[in-house]
Amino acid sequence: MRPHEARRDAYRRMAREQGYRSRSAYKLKELNRAYRVIGAGFGVLDVGCCPGGWTQVAVQLAGSRGRVMGMDTSHTDEVPGARTVRLDVSDDGAAGEVLAYFGKRVDAVVCDLSPQVSGNWSVDHARQVSLNYDAARVMARVLARGGNAVFKVFDGEYSAEFCSYVKKMFARTRSTKPRASRKTSSEMYVVCLGHTGG
Ligand SMILES: C[S@@+](CC[C@H](N)C(=O)[O-])C[C@H]1O[C@@H](n2cnc3c(N)ncnc32)[C@H](O)[C@@H]1O
Repeated sequence: MRPHEARRDAYRRMAREQGYRSRSAYKLKELNRAYRVIGAGFGVLDVGCCPGGWTQVAVQLAGSRGRVMGMDTSHTDEVPGARTVRLDVSDDGAAGEVLAYFGKRVDAVVCDLSPQVSGNWSVDHARQVSLNYDAARVMARVLARGGNAVFKVFDGEYSAEFCSYVKKMFARTRSTKPRASRKTSSEMYVVCLGHTGG
């Protein structure tokens, strides 16, 4: 986004005024209003959490009886009410770390993963979808039956295949683009409800 566009961006302004670390926070809020991915008392894993906007929202939604863990390859400054860890989602030990922290399976997994973008769209799209497969593998090991998930997907050649892959594991899925997601961005979100374990 160019500087003059950033100034005009209402979500960015709102994020600054309301103390959210990213304008993306409003995407999760919007998705949750529509689909109730996270409810009070939930255990929530936030994959690709830095700088922490979604983690802040997850803490608010899960409330005092909930528990939230954020995971990212970059360092995330502490988010009050959450545990943030520096961890690669493709690491073999990732699911084990999550289960060790929660002591049981979680109720929701939310993924807003983006690779370091190279500027070459096909490469970035392929990398982003590949990260999602890693996240889905972790999800399959840590999400409770009946639990929910959200995946950001860079829409392109491989996104339909990824969507059918996760669809098999849930009672209901929906692809959507929240208003807070820029129209010019190719990202969309796959909301997955009712983990069947399939
Ligand atoms: C768009 S940002 C997430 C923004 C966040 N949802 C928020 O609201 O603040 C995407 C994140 O994915 C992280 N990421 C990329 N590859 C990763 C990996 N292999 N494991 C964990 N995190 C990764 C990046 O470091 C980056 O911080």
